Amino acid sequence: MAHLIDGKKISADIKEEVKKKAGELRKKGTEVCLAVIQVGNNPASTVYVNNKKKACEYVGIKSLSYELKEETTEEELLGLIDKLNNMPEVNGILVQLPLPEHIDEDKVIERISPKKDVDGFHPMNVGALSIGRKGFISCTPYGIIQLLKRSGIDIEGKHCVIVGRSNIVGKPMAMLLLRENGTVTVVHSRTKNIKEITSQADILVVAIGKPKYITKEYVKDGAVVIDVGINRNENGKLCGDVDFDDVLPKVSAITPVPGGVGPMTIAMLMNNCLEAVELNK
Ligand code: GUN
Repeated sequence: MAHLIDGKKISADIKEEVKKKAGELRKKGTEVCLAVIQVGNNPASTVYVNNKKKACEYVGIKSLSYELKEETTEEELLGLIDKLNNMPEVNGILVQLPLPEHIDEDKVIERISPKKDVDGFHPMNVGALSIGRKGFISCTPYGIIQLLKRSGIDIEGKHCVIVGRSNIVGKPMAMLLLRENGTVTVVHSRTKNIKEITSQADILVVAIGKPKYITKEYVKDGAVVIDVGINRNENGKLCGDVDFDDVLPKVSAITPVPGGVGPMTIAMLMNNCLEAVELNK
């Protein structure tokens, strides 16, 4: 029987740990504070931002909310980031992506102080991760490491195959699994023999945004499968990048969608806000 990796439970445990530590810091006179910026009214972004603010409230992290209109100029947004960078009481700054087209996302990410970049998107933090230095780690891949560790799954010496090479998931995932002494292969849209490679994986992490792409032919017997995808099927129901029912009989452990990787992202954001207090010292 495959083990179902319970992201709801593990993320709830992490939030409880953060809540406890944030409470201890408060007793010592330090309030953890996250600034959340949204530009425009992208409905999906509004849902994500509201969930982040709710999580802050739950764990006892103060959130400062900046809801800027769609027409906000790049200059205005950069000005707000400068102001927040210089506010010692703000530990973390998060600019919800995507931004409107007239704003250069790279420029915005680079303007956030690397010491307040709780998303782990700043090139300094990306670089720090790749050479094993301290820094913020992108929340979704960081959450996946927690899912594996807290489910008792060893990474050391395992062949870890990642499907997808995005800056937010695939690439940092590769660095993190390498840091945990896994043997890492990344496959992507231009890889010629994807199935041949994925079917050698002990741990398979899938983040390509194609509904039910991974079927049993892609998976080795006894593999651990982590599904990062969040898609809607033809009936509007949520489904992952993995065909869950098809691979289930073959795997030793798997994350469901929903309730697997998804809830981990916000839990790790809360964790990063706590880490920010340490980094800002
Ligand atoms: N948009 C989608 N996911 C994310 C995320 O993790 N962080 C930010 N800032 N924007 C996002």
